[in-house]
Amino acid sequence: MPRLIFCLALLATSATAFTLRSWTDAYTLANNAVVQMTLDEKAGILTGVGQFSSRCVGDTHPVSRLGISSICFQDGPAGVRATKGVTGFPTGINAASTFSRRLLRARGVALGEEFRGKGVNVYLGPAMDIMRNPKGGRGWESFGPDPYLNGEGAFETIVGVQSVGVQACAKHFAANNQEHWRYGASSNLDDRTMNEIYAYPFYRSIDAGVTSIMCAYNRVNGTSSCHNANLLGNNGLLRKHGFMGYVVSDWGATHDTAAENANAGLEMEQPGDFIVIGGGVYNNLISGLKPAAKSGKISSARLDEMVSRVLAGWYRLGQDTGYPSPNFDAQHSDGSGSLNENVSVRSSAHTALAREIVSASTVLLKNNRLTLGTGGPTIRGLPVATSQVKNMAVVGLDAKMPGKDCGDLNTCNKGTITTGWGSGSNSLEFVVPPIDAITAVVGDSALISQSLSNNLDDGVAAARGKDLAIVFVNANSGELGAYTVVDGNMGDRNNLDLWFKGGSLVERVAAVCNNTIVVVHSTGPVRMPWSNHANISAIVYAGAPGEQNGPGLVDVLYGAYNPRGRLPFTLNDDESAYGTEIVYNSLGFPNIDYTEKLLLDYRYMDAHNIAPRFEFGFGLSYTTFAYSGIMTSFTSSDGKSTFTTQFTVTNSGSVTGTEIAQLYLSFPESANEPRRVLRGFEEVDLAVGQSKQVQIALNQRELSIWDVASQSWVVPLGTFTIHVGASIKDIRLTETFTSLA
Ligand SMILES: *[C@@H]1O[C@H](CO)[C@@H](O)[C@H](O)[C@H]1NC(C)=O
Ligand SMILES: *[C@@H]1O[C@H](CO)[C@@H](O)[C@H](O)[C@H]1NC(C)=O
Ligand SMILES: *[C@@H]1O[C@H](CO)[C@@H](O)[C@H](O)[C@H]1NC(C)=O
Ligand SMILES: *[C@@H]1O[C@H](CO)[C@@H](O)[C@H](O)[C@H]1NC(C)=O
Repeated sequence: MPRLIFCLALLATSATAFTLRSWTDAYTLANNAVVQMTLDEKAGILTGVGQFSSRCVGDTHPVSRLGISSICFQDGPAGVRATKGVTGFPTGINAASTFSRRLLRARGVALGEEFRGKGVNVYLGPAMDIMRNPKGGRGWESFGPDPYLNGEGAFETIVGVQSVGVQACAKHFAANNQEHWRYGASSNLDDRTMNEIYAYPFYRSIDAGVTSIMCAYNRVNGTSSCHNANLLGNNGLLRKHGFMGYVVSDWGATHDTAAENANAGLEMEQPGDFIVIGGGVYNNLISGLKPAAKSGKISSARLDEMVSRVLAGWYRLGQDTGYPSPNFDAQHSDGSGSLNENVSVRSSAHTALAREIVSASTVLLKNNRLTLGTGGPTIRGLPVATSQVKNMAVVGLDAKMPGKDCGDLNTCNKGTITTGWGSGSNSLEFVVPPIDAITAVVGDSALISQSLSNNLDDGVAAARGKDLAIVFVNANSGELGAYTVVDGNMGDRNNLDLWFKGGSLVERVAAVCNNTIVVVHSTGPVRMPWSNHANISAIVYAGAPGEQNGPGLVDVLYGAYNPRGRLPFTLNDDESAYGTEIVYNSLGFPNIDYTEKLLLDYRYMDAHNIAPRFEFGFGLSYTTFAYSGIMTSFTSSDGKSTFTTQFTVTNSGSVTGTEIAQLYLSFPESANEPRRVLRGFEEVDLAVGQSKQVQIALNQRELSIWDVASQSWVVPLGTFTIHVGASIKDIRLTETFTSLA
């Protein structure tokens, strides 16, 4: 077999200049096009060409005589899916772990460059589904259980992607939080919970100027998300928050008639034909868009509005001039077929960025470091000092190269985890597994005994008496649907256990090696009842980091990169500590009542005084940081008031490092908010002994609750407390202020 040879395409890094139009100008152009269109042409723009005729995962019908191309939609949130020559970026949950607007934005730009380089018009992401339950199958595609962190992740990603002229698609609206029964389960939630938790990141997407939003498979309050005027209509949540773009259905998420969907606020249906259940309603010959428009069930004004909204996003991002056409074929993800031009959109800059994000998202949970004298090399714990380790072991299936397909076949679980499975998975073509990266950094300095399976006896034999044993363990999850059930997990995980007896592997190895370092790759929280074991000198939570898995991790383990990642969720051994459940068994589509309301993750544990194993926002560094001098102030300009908190962070340790300073807010008691909520974070790079002043500004919405009576964001009256610190449990500074009437 000949090796694949890719053209060296510079598309990804050049020719991305375009002129961003205002919405007004974009709508003028869109409306001008719409008035010239026939009904067939209009319907063709609102309907995908069908899943198996589609070159991308979704394509609209072009209107060539008006210069309107087919619009190409492609998965997914962490890289271009179903093609070769792309970067497998760190997943959303890892991007969240960086708590870095800079890296979230840079990741968005790089994603945008690769989607553009492949000729994709619409990046199907970011996902911003709240991780309502830690076992939720697709939680890793998004930014965790906190709405503020999801909102910032969504905002920066969208601004980044759209900055190179690629449309983003905020998904999945709304309350799409488990895989079991997803095609019809009803998420039943009150107005305040919807606005403050589940819709909140979509509002940040609107702030970012997102051109499209995807409605979800599930129902909300009994009505399909794609046929839900309370969500999508002109008086619904999105439009009331200023959404200017179009709503596209999740693939096959239209369950009702064309007129019902269109009149409720759906603009586009994808992929345009029948898929899984439902779908294909717009192109139905009897009840589809055209008959409904002819009979007046869809007014001509509404039909034109739908088409205008789709085209406005395309014009706004300048996709009408010089936009590359697709050069790949999602139907042949292996590069075969006559349509694949085998264009590589990878670059050394993207690889370096992916690797940096892996390092920045790696969370150091425990480090019982022992050094040879003060400031001497490390004998136990991290960073590993190569001079002190002569014999070491690498143990666990998760250290080795996975199978290369994390889509339908899901062989990607047979090795290290870089991504969950399903449509949010990305390319594993260039994965560098931990064992390769460790072997490279260790070189001749030590002998490495390998046991790259989870066989307990083999692992013990490899680790016994070694100066160091690094144990790799994991847990995975993914998407239901056309995708495989993995190890009995139907998308959602069945429990919080490590897979393949990972917990036992850790305990058995730790019993024979007094310098055991545990690395966890997982799509979400896992149990770690062994974390206090005396022989476990360090624990690293590495998430689902994408293709640069090994190199980014080794930079942290061997001290080239000082860890600064933070948990974007709480780790607790007990599932009941999370206060929500996945509904696995049901006679027909279940009603899922969000009775926990605002109390998710740390908010629930705070309310019930449940101690976490490792708390939200937690993560260690090889240095230490001190906080001082908190001050707060209100400023007002253009009728908008901003509340600013200022404080100083100092690197009080002995190596350069980055602190993630976090701001949690306590509302006045009368507001009935959770005890503390995340409302700000800032990465602070500090040399040894250096101090920097940090400012975190909160705008009006960030100081507000959703007021159901007035249907608006209202700052409650009374005394607020600002908590500033290194995690939700490690508060270093507090200050109170009173809101003004
Ligand atoms: C769902 O129903 C609840 C309870 O009646 C209501 O508060 C909420 O606004 C509804 N949400 C939507 C999107 O219809
Ligand atoms: C793309 O790669 C595939 C798989 O190696 C090959 O069959 C095909 O001919 C290539 N296409 C082009 C245009 O080079
Ligand atoms: C740890 O294990 C190493 C290697 O077996 C041994 O040399 C050392 O004495 C042990 N240290 C302790 C404190 O048990
Ligand atoms: C720690 O490891 C040593 C071997 O280095 C072993 O003798 C000891 O029993 C282990 N301790 C525990 C608590 O398992």
